[in-house]
Amino acid sequence: MTTDTLLTVADFSVVYDVEPPVEAVSHVSLELRRGEILGLAGESGCGKTTLAYGIQRLLKPPAVITSGSAVFHDESGEDVDINSLTIDEMRAFRWNKVSMVFQGAMNSLNPVARVGDQLDDVFTTHRPSLKKAERTDEGKRLLDLVGVGRDRYRSYPHELSGGMRQRVMIAMAMALKPQLMIMDEPTTALDVLVQREILIQISQLREQLGFSVIFITHDLPLLLEISDRIAVMKDGKIVELAPAATIYRQAEHEYTRRLLGSFPSLTGDRGDFIRGGQHEEGDQ
Ligand SMILES: Nc1ncnc2c1ncn2[C@@H]1O[C@H](COP(=O)(O)OP(=O)(O)O)[C@@H](O)[C@H]1O
Ligand SMILES: [Mg+2]
Repeated sequence: MTTDTLLTVADFSVVYDVEPPVEAVSHVSLELRRGEILGLAGESGCGKTTLAYGIQRLLKPPAVITSGSAVFHDESGEDVDINSLTIDEMRAFRWNKVSMVFQGAMNSLNPVARVGDQLDDVFTTHRPSLKKAERTDEGKRLLDLVGVGRDRYRSYPHELSGGMRQRVMIAMAMALKPQLMIMDEPTTALDVLVQREILIQISQLREQLGFSVIFITHDLPLLLEISDRIAVMKDGKIVELAPAATIYRQAEHEYTRRLLGSFPSLTGDRGDFIRGGQHEEGDQ
């Protein structure tokens, strides 16, 4: 039986075993719903990337998972405890069930291979039964889907803008129809307009295709536009998790309000907001 929950993270902690040790993720619990866009916001260094890597078992030493679990509720009805998978199982799991668009991913395309060939590689590796013509069709369809356009199938990365390259990475992440896509600051290096276009596209694709998204950024106002719910992280902990509209209108935590206030675009006069929040005695 499938449930409405796709991923259950419970009491999850990660420590970097350095001197002194850093508890980057501290007893995080959250449930991700099927088809939902969950925004994960918080200042640089609060543990967002570590959490994202941790729940996919992508962490390397000195990172150690010190408590908790991440259980993926597959659409087949099977529950998969990510910590119990073997390396081979994990590899298959990663592209097929969960995929990730990394921070700065657009620079990880192979500069000397056409984007179509790089898409083709994903299918050759993970869908060996597909014939060449089927792989090409599917690759072109994906380029259309993410707004690059099939006429770019034979382009090299350097012939595309940064935004287009990032869309190609999103196409690759979507190639095997994962149930969850984790996007870690996927648009941070792009200009604001391009960022917005890509976000809107992700949100539309999610509606079309039904996958869930964990979208990570330090830019909380950006998340308000596309997320169903938003988790706010500080010092390794989730300090607030609520529907986007609630976060916008009545964030409970001072910290969340500060994150909102630190971006002038959505809150009007930034100076007033910050003064209002921090100097309640009123020095104006
Ligand atoms: N390889 C590492 N070794 C030691 N500390 C690390 C390592 N990677 C990250 N950290 C620390 O873990 C904390 C969380 O980092 P990170 O997950 O990258 O945060 P975010 O993605 O929110 O910017 C930070 O204090 C960072 O310095
Ligand atoms: Mg990060």
